[in-house]
Amino acid sequence: MSNEIIVEDSIFRVGRVISVDGRSIRVSVDKAKNSSHLVYKGDLIKNVSVGSYIKIIKGFTIIIGKVEGEFTYEDKIASTKEYSSDKEKINRSLSVSLLGFFNKKEFERGIKEMPLVDNECYLLDRQEFNQVHDFIRKTDEPLVIGTLTLEKGQTITVGIDSLFASHIGIFGNTGSGKSYTLAKLYFELFKIYKDNQKFREKSNFFLLDFNGEYVTESENVIIPKDYKNIYRLTTKNNDGQKYPISKETLYDHSFWAIVLEATEKTQTPFLRRAIGNSSLADKIKTNDSLKELIKNTFWLGIAKNDGELGQKVLIEFLSELYYSLGYSNLLDIRDAIRERIKFYARDNKREFVYIDAEGEWHWDNDMRTKILDHFEELELPDTEINDLDVLKIQIIFQYYDEIIKGFANIEHLAPLIKRLGKNFSDIRKVIEAKEDVSTSKNFTIVSLKEVNIHMRKILPLLLCKQLYEEQKTKNDETSHLNIIIDEAHNILSRDSNRESEQWKDYRLETFEEIIKEGRKFGVFLTLASQRPSDISPTIISQLHNYFLHRLINNNDIIAVEKTISYLDKLSFEYLPILPTGTCILAGLSAQVPVVIDIGAIEKEFEPNNKTRSLIENWKD
Ligand SMILES: Nc1ncnc2c1ncn2[C@@H]1O[C@H](COP(=O)(O)OP(=O)(O)OP(=O)(O)O)[C@@H](O)[C@H]1O
Ligand SMILES: [Mg+2]
Repeated sequence: MSNEIIVEDSIFRVGRVISVDGRSIRVSVDKAKNSSHLVYKGDLIKNVSVGSYIKIIKGFTIIIGKVEGEFTYEDKIASTKEYSSDKEKINRSLSVSLLGFFNKKEFERGIKEMPLVDNECYLLDRQEFNQVHDFIRKTDEPLVIGTLTLEKGQTITVGIDSLFASHIGIFGNTGSGKSYTLAKLYFELFKIYKDNQKFREKSNFFLLDFNGEYVTESENVIIPKDYKNIYRLTTKNNDGQKYPISKETLYDHSFWAIVLEATEKTQTPFLRRAIGNSSLADKIKTNDSLKELIKNTFWLGIAKNDGELGQKVLIEFLSELYYSLGYSNLLDIRDAIRERIKFYARDNKREFVYIDAEGEWHWDNDMRTKILDHFEELELPDTEINDLDVLKIQIIFQYYDEIIKGFANIEHLAPLIKRLGKNFSDIRKVIEAKEDVSTSKNFTIVSLKEVNIHMRKILPLLLCKQLYEEQKTKNDETSHLNIIIDEAHNILSRDSNRESEQWKDYRLETFEEIIKEGRKFGVFLTLASQRPSDISPTIISQLHNYFLHRLINNNDIIAVEKTISYLDKLSFEYLPILPTGTCILAGLSAQVPVVIDIGAIEKEFEPNNKTRSLIENWKD
């Protein structure tokens, strides 16, 4: 052994293993190493402390552990000696958890061998330290995201493949830097690839922005505005931007099942029948055939001679149509007929009868002619009814047709028809059907800031499901979709009283499916949220990479602790005290959990989320 190695060994040696208990190891520190720094070749080297790494040598195997705790106790024998230095009077021991090992000069996570008592322990040299923090696999490319917090100057790079072909979770309290971290990841990614033709063709990024943080005036957040589509949706009025959907989507009953919050067993099949009824659609499109349709349906309802049904058709059917048609005199006709029709007893049964202005009674065919005469005065809008309205009217006709014929149960379908008006009027403010929805840009931001709470639940589900299904049917192994959702608790929370249980299950199941199955089709989620405890544990536990910012609430910490297996005890202790912009990176793309300072984004590309300064605004 050369002199150099002996010196190095003696300097870098910190102690030896004194106990092995499962994954936790105790190391007794050499008394000469009870100082905070060591001097080696004129350099000051930080001695072991909580949070640092040590290597344990077991024959030819090098095992790496992380120091989690430090303890001292008095050395009784040394204390009784009069001339010993104070340093020698204490024994120092470390608790260490095992992280991985060196495999042919490369660091690998996991445990292959356990150390033995009396194995020697050393500090890591610079090269080994770098290897432990080198997260890039051989086939991957690096992306610089920040620097190590505890080791200033050590940049942290992650593999692009291992990060972006994975589900990412970013959690932390408000103001802890989640949105900034999210923006940083994609900012760095786009910086490298944005001009690559293949990147633009093969990948698709879709960002849901609940607070309008990513749609500043300059529209340059994350990437310059020329590279992305921005949709600022609003339900406040009809003048906002609209998200384009294809004609195919428009006639997809599962799309409407989401918009109308349809139940799976009865309402969704009904919608399928309604939307698939193309002959109905054709009739609605021209005024003459529409008039016929109204007359026929109305008469069908009366002819059943069912008092309750007749009243319903008379009043609700015509009113419903009136509100969907835009303009018509249907209400006048309804009132005129209502005045003339009575439900009366004749020959031991009750029947509808038409009493004309002269007081004469008309039954059967006679009555039919009289009633239908009223519709001669029907005026309908002379502009063409747009596709969305045709669809809505189609649903109304199908509903009354089935009810009148007794095919469907009112109790099952009525709630759906009740939602029709409100949900339709909301959805038409935010989407439009287009022949061609293709775009050359592969980054889309949808801002839901101005969208009402009701649509905030429906729209994300609608859009994400749509994108997911599209990607699934593409069946192209080279294509890739990233769905990015900031403030993800808005749609992934388990407790919400605004919706039915069934609907909530459906919403969660959809995202759970993307999490569970998405990888196969190249669909990946990036979620940021302040409330991990609110989000379904199935979703949190299936994420691959975690950026954990400051978390103070105990429930949130527990939620993270329960579901994330990558994190060691020490990292959990850090969670409540992390400063803004600092987070723990754990998961598949980091061999060891590391505390990192997220690097800065150029000013122009930052999200719009400045923490307000009150006094700045209050100064005269
Ligand atoms: N790495 C960082 N470098 C510089 N500034 C940062 C960094 N991270 C966060 N900030 C700043 O801290 C503030 C809060 O950050 P951010 O809006 O990202 O927090 P958040 O966790 O998304 O909060 P909220 O939950 O309210 O959305 C912002 O002004 C942001 O510019
Ligand atoms: Mg945010």
